[in-house]
Amino acid sequence: MATIRSVAKLAGVSVATVSRVLNQRGYVHIETEKKVLKAIKELNYTPSSVARSLNNKKTNTIGLILPDITNPFFPELARAIEDVMQIYGYTVVLCNSDGSVEKEQEYIDILKQKYIDGIIISTSNFVIDQELFSQIPIVTLDRHVTSEKIPSVEGGNYEGAKLATEFLLSTGCKHIAHLQGPETIRNARERRDGYIDVLKAKGCFDGNLIVAADYDIKKATKVTFELLERDSSIDGIFAGNDLMAIGALKAIQMHGLRVPDDISVIGFDGIALGEMIYPELTTIAQPIYDMGAIAARILVKLIEEVPLESTHHKLDVQLVERRTTRRLST
Ligand code: RIB
Repeated sequence: MATIRSVAKLAGVSVATVSRVLNQRGYVHIETEKKVLKAIKELNYTPSSVARSLNNKKTNTIGLILPDITNPFFPELARAIEDVMQIYGYTVVLCNSDGSVEKEQEYIDILKQKYIDGIIISTSNFVIDQELFSQIPIVTLDRHVTSEKIPSVEGGNYEGAKLATEFLLSTGCKHIAHLQGPETIRNARERRDGYIDVLKAKGCFDGNLIVAADYDIKKATKVTFELLERDSSIDGIFAGNDLMAIGALKAIQMHGLRVPDDISVIGFDGIALGEMIYPELTTIAQPIYDMGAIAARILVKLIEEVPLESTHHKLDVQLVERRTTRRLST
């Protein structure tokens, strides 16, 4: 296979001259350029993408690091990112971090070695140092870090949790439990805090009604079953994501209880699956596609050094009332 060296030899020039012709960088005499192009054609040489990236420092590829695409929330996010990046001529390399800070760091190191142009990350509490941000454009999405400089896009976690809890109260629920996501994840803590603040303001907060289920559907079934065994007064559940809400529905059914007549359930995310189950899930919908699309647009601007209008974006969430909650009490 032809190499840049064989082209240089045939054209009677240096490798550096061939590289300048390939990348249209620096001065090359017209006659020299003609000899190089003639040699490229004769040898049918195609420069490798890595070689190109070594010179023009762009591979038109970005890395997308997400916790776990088996959770339906993340594929919806990834789809938006790929759609937007494709418009601007970028390819997306997807990495699953499994919520591991170590894996996030490993992927970032690997992606840097492959000269990708930027990274979008939904981080599981990874502390992105400012030095890294000075080396490669980064946008944090959905789960972000505290940083003035690193752009972020998220949904209104705290606000959405308050909305969910207030809605359950408005339908007549009096003993509302919360299925919490991982303590290490900022948006899980924000959703828990929204739930707590509403109930404390009403004077009816009971810390025993918060159980951890790690955003996991099976754990949610287990802990909800145990919760209902020890407390039969529960008449409402706010789950920190839709998967845990779906897991809770199974536990409620295992107890022979009815939704929403005996217990109302509301989730958080607005994944498509929530519409497919019976009864259809009431939830706090995040603007998943818009979150991904905005993060992708911000990254393109960072890569192409277009100034940003703003660095941090918090998008509104909305209540989507379906069949797992009682109608508003009149
Ligand atoms: O369901 C997965 C959860 O983790 C979602 O609520 C999303 O916000 C992500 O952070």
